[in-house]
Amino acid sequence: MKMASVDDADRVSMLVAALRQHCGPGDARPHVVKAPGRVNLIGEHTDYNDGFVLPIAIDRSVIMAGRCRPDRQVRVYSVDYQQLNEFSLDDIAVDNVMGWSNYIRGVLFVLQNEGYELGGLDLAVTGNIPQGAGLSSSAALEIATADMATALFDLKIEPVDTARLAQKAENEFVGVQCGIMDQFVSKLGRKDHALLIDCRSLEYRHIPWLSDQVRLLIADTRVQRGLVDSEYNRRRQECEEGLQALSKVLPGITALRDVSISQFREHAHLLDPVVRSRCRHVIYENARVLEAVAALESGDWVHLGQLMYASHESLRDLYEVSCPELNAMVEIAQSVEGVFGARMTGAGFGGCAIALVQERALENLEEAILRRYPEMIGRDPKLLRTGVAEGARSWLWEDQEALKGGN
Ligand code: GLA
Repeated sequence: MKMASVDDADRVSMLVAALRQHCGPGDARPHVVKAPGRVNLIGEHTDYNDGFVLPIAIDRSVIMAGRCRPDRQVRVYSVDYQQLNEFSLDDIAVDNVMGWSNYIRGVLFVLQNEGYELGGLDLAVTGNIPQGAGLSSSAALEIATADMATALFDLKIEPVDTARLAQKAENEFVGVQCGIMDQFVSKLGRKDHALLIDCRSLEYRHIPWLSDQVRLLIADTRVQRGLVDSEYNRRRQECEEGLQALSKVLPGITALRDVSISQFREHAHLLDPVVRSRCRHVIYENARVLEAVAALESGDWVHLGQLMYASHESLRDLYEVSCPELNAMVEIAQSVEGVFGARMTGAGFGGCAIALVQERALENLEEAILRRYPEMIGRDPKLLRTGVAEGARSWLWEDQEALKGGN
């Protein structure tokens, strides 16, 4: 079985050494869990409207090593923060000092609340997903924790439920009202496939990425996503307002997902202008996701790229969650020959843009961004090439063979 790449082997060895150093040598064989970050190809701000999304897992991840303890204590060592965090499973509270531990605490809290029986844990964790860049490092940490508990305590949890429970931890324990996309793709992504998720039924389909000549570049604006929480919640409210108003003339709708484009055209005049723009984005974005799936399935990269540009414009002008830095990235990408499409990805207000680009044009694109972005914005960007990676996996540390395979 191919579980991890050779690079991962070094990360895992370091992690197991950290586990032994900070939590004691221990007899038990550690389990290892790897959970990736994500970018969303298209379908932004649709998940909490019961709509469609099309993310991929990226080859940046959180890796966790862990083993059982005989008591009810949890000890977690973060290699990146060089901090040890300790708590009891019988009293899981929010930690205001070591904020990173709340994603782990939250997942264990939710698992216990749902009736899963846990015991004490020693954990060590590290990650190479840039934090605060909108690449879902927190969702990856949540999924890693849930999968670690599943492996160590032999819990019976369906993969979709793992995503749901991790989202619940973020909503109810960490206090961020995110949708389910990030946790879902971190758990269920598949190598060389995008993941179409129906965020109402939670049905999903893996869509093959048909060409190794078409690449994805992640362009980090390096703008901290300052407004993201308050504006995110405000957008959710505006969608809710739109839904309420439309449900007066369209009885039976329970989410913007239920409103067709023709119904929207007929009734849009009933909405307040700002709410109308928000709804227009969501309703057309859902349609774009389904078109994007067809484009991906037929290898029509040109059309997929056009849909990505259209999505970006809609997020910029109608949903108003872009920013000058993200717009600059898209503008630069658009000017480079061989780029099919580009857009902001994730919640917005900073973070990353993605570009879909022909392999042969990748270096030109990188050069253009590295040269022009600082001229336009006055700061250096960060670029990450990414493949389309596998979702979360867990294995036993002794399983050395697994570390030799590619992933
Ligand atoms: C964040 C949330 C997701 C989704 C996106 C916007 O990443 O965590 O659930 O709502 O924003 O598409």
